[in-house]
Amino acid sequence: MTREVLRRMRSRFVGLAGGYAERLGERREHIVLKRDHSLRVHALAARIVAGEALAPALPYLAASLLHDIGRFPQFERFGTYRDDESVDHGDEGAAFLDGSGLLETFGERERDCIIQAVRMHNKREIPEGMDPLARSICEVVRDADKLDIVPVVLSKIQAAGPRDPVVTLGLADEPLAWTPSVLERVAAGDNPFYGELRCINDFTLLLASWGPVLVHGASRRIFAVRGYLDRLFAILPADPVFVALKADLARRLAA
Ligand SMILES: [Fe+2]
Repeated sequence: MTREVLRRMRSRFVGLAGGYAERLGERREHIVLKRDHSLRVHALAARIVAGEALAPALPYLAASLLHDIGRFPQFERFGTYRDDESVDHGDEGAAFLDGSGLLETFGERERDCIIQAVRMHNKREIPEGMDPLARSICEVVRDADKLDIVPVVLSKIQAAGPRDPVVTLGLADEPLAWTPSVLERVAAGDNPFYGELRCINDFTLLLASWGPVLVHGASRRIFAVRGYLDRLFAILPADPVFVALKADLARRLAA
C-alpha cells in the first residue's frame, strides 16, 4: 500500500514538473534540476528515516518529495531561485499544496504537518511551538535537502566555462577572495546568512558549515562518508586559515 501510494505520488510530481518544463521551453533545465533534486532528497530522506527508525515513514517521504514544489511557480513567474528577489519558495510550496489534492491520501493532521514542514524547510530557524510531528518531518527534509545541495553546487562551481548564476546565486567569481564575517561565523559554529555572501568562496564556506549542524546522526554520517568537507575545502584558497577550519569542522562532524 505504502509503496503504491509513493509510486503514484512520485508519478504525479514528475508529471507536474513536466508541465512546467514544457511551458518554459529553453529554460526547462532549471525545472529539471529541481525535479531531480527533489527525487534525490526523497531518496536521502528514506535513508535518514530508516537510519533513525522514524515511523510511519510516509509523511516524511511525501514532504521530502514535495518540499520544493514552490520552486516551479517561483521560476515560472520570476525566472530566479533567489527568494529575496522573488517569493519565499517554502510559503509558495505550502500554498500550492494546500489547494492541490496531492496529499489527499493523508489524514488531516498528517497533511497539515507535511504542509507546515514544506513551509518551514527553508527558514533560518524552525519556530518554537511547532507540532512535534511537523518539526520532525521538517528536520528530516532540511537534513536531506542540505545533503543534496552540496554536490549540486559543487558540480556547478567546478564545471568548465561560465558559471550558472541561477545555481551560484549570481555571486562574484573571485577565486582568491572570501568575506571575513562569513569565515568568522562558520568558525564560531554558526551558519552564515545568505545575504552576507559576496563571492563563491563564501557560498562554499556556507555549505561546509552545514555538516556539523545536521540534526540526525544518520545525516552527518552521509555528509562524512560522501567526503563533502574534502571536496569543499579542495576548492577554497590554499590558506592556513582554511586548514584549521576544515580540521575543526571535521572534528565537530564526527562528534
Ligand atoms: Fe527548498
